[in-house]
Amino acid sequence: MILCQISDLHIKPERRLAYGVVDTAAMLERCVAHIGRLPQRPDVVLATGDLVDGGTAAEYGLLRELLSPLTMPLYLMPGNHDERRALREVFDDHPYLQSNSAFTQYVVEDFPLRLIALDTVIPGQSGGTLCDERLAWLERALAESGKPTVVALHHPPFITGIGHMDRIALDSSAKLELIIARHPQVERVIAGHLHRPITVRFGGTVASTCPSPAHQVVLDLARDGADHFIMEPPAFQLHWWDGQRLVTHTEYIGDFGPSYPFREDGRLIG
Ligand SMILES: [Fe+2]
Repeated sequence: MILCQISDLHIKPERRLAYGVVDTAAMLERCVAHIGRLPQRPDVVLATGDLVDGGTAAEYGLLRELLSPLTMPLYLMPGNHDERRALREVFDDHPYLQSNSAFTQYVVEDFPLRLIALDTVIPGQSGGTLCDERLAWLERALAESGKPTVVALHHPPFITGIGHMDRIALDSSAKLELIIARHPQVERVIAGHLHRPITVRFGGTVASTCPSPAHQVVLDLARDGADHFIMEPPAFQLHWWDGQRLVTHTEYIGDFGPSYPFREDGRLIG
């Protein structure tokens, strides 16, 4: 099974540039086209938040259009730039979004890996939380099945060292870590928000973040570093499950020329 994770798409209305410089719509188009050309088709695509930049229906409408070439099941999750109600309304044919709960949390049972999506949004704030209600829901969801599981959330549940992002981190990581540690079927905790790939040990498993198909966050480990982004190569991740282990590959989006088949003796073939 291949789980494709995309994150932090930051679509603006009418294809406007994010921060006046990043063409997030064109970059998502390139990402979607790249996923369509992969030699192995992912079984599912999961978008881990910051789907749009301002949380408006117009932005979700454009997002819907940009994601429409994807031929595999698509699951969406909110991040701090999203607005739950507008997301639900525009993607009204996505049944997992249409709950009566205040939160957009859900379980996907259709694949060899069980997917659990958590909602870390605090409306109007950049940081995230998992309140007791959301954590109790997770505890119940994990107790229901011992099947290998990926838990996804927008805000990574760990401090990254990147000071300007750690200032808008998840405030409830320790509580989440205790729950994850009690459920060894959790193969991975995956997140977005950081716009770059990061990996850490967490609750007896591995936690990771995914790069953005648009702009990346500057790798600046200064505690008091300023907010800044950089146009490092855009990317997404493929999490490959072989039935035993979850292996994560970061795939860069762009034209890198042809591949070069070669022989053991170091010569090119052809
Ligand atoms: Fe983001």
